[in-house]
Amino acid sequence: MCRVWMLGLAILMLAGCEQDMANQPRYEAYEAAPGWKHNQSALQPVPGTVPRGASLGPVPEDLPMPLTLDLLERGRQRFDTYCSPCHGRTGHADGMVVQRGFPAPPTLHSERLRSVALRHFYNVISNGYGVMYSYAARVPPEDRWAVAAYIRALQLSQHAAPQDLTEGLRAQLEGTP
Ligand code: HEC
Repeated sequence: MCRVWMLGLAILMLAGCEQDMANQPRYEAYEAAPGWKHNQSALQPVPGTVPRGASLGPVPEDLPMPLTLDLLERGRQRFDTYCSPCHGRTGHADGMVVQRGFPAPPTLHSERLRSVALRHFYNVISNGYGVMYSYAARVPPEDRWAVAAYIRALQLSQHAAPQDLTEGLRAQLEGTP
């Protein structure tokens, strides 16, 4: 009989504890909270905060900044760092990671990839593509454009015809003085 009483008492005490936890002091959402910043229990996000998954507006079709040699240099540096391990320094899909067994990406010199808008490269870097993961965390938007512009330069470098060169360079190439 005594045991039953003790058990009953224990249950009552536990239930009592739970009740205390439910009633502990807390703020309602956005309730005034004197002493806190802005006197408000919910803190404001710092200026410039971008919610996860937020869209920053439509991505332009083409480069939103002027095409300069500096931009291409930056693009090359970022491409060599982040993309060449798989895509290779020249975009022929022969990077070291591929040589060690990672699925080979397509060459960047196909007819299709030579004719896509720069925005496509920007989107692939931002969102990933198939088994390629997103580089959004490592390559900020401005650098994505720089890389996209550099890929286009790489593509031109592999498809240049002699008549694309200036007279002087062409003569140099053909060995005529
Ligand atoms: C770890 C290896 C790896 C790295 C690093 C990598 N990629 Fe890729 N990439 C791939 C693979 C694999 C595919 C093909 C994915 C598929 O089709 O499933 C691909 C596909 C692509 C495509 C083709 C998309 C299409 O329309 O077919 C582009 C463009 C591209 N990557 C650009 C980049 C750029 C730019 C970077 C650097 C910021 C980069 N990749 C870094 C592996 C990689």
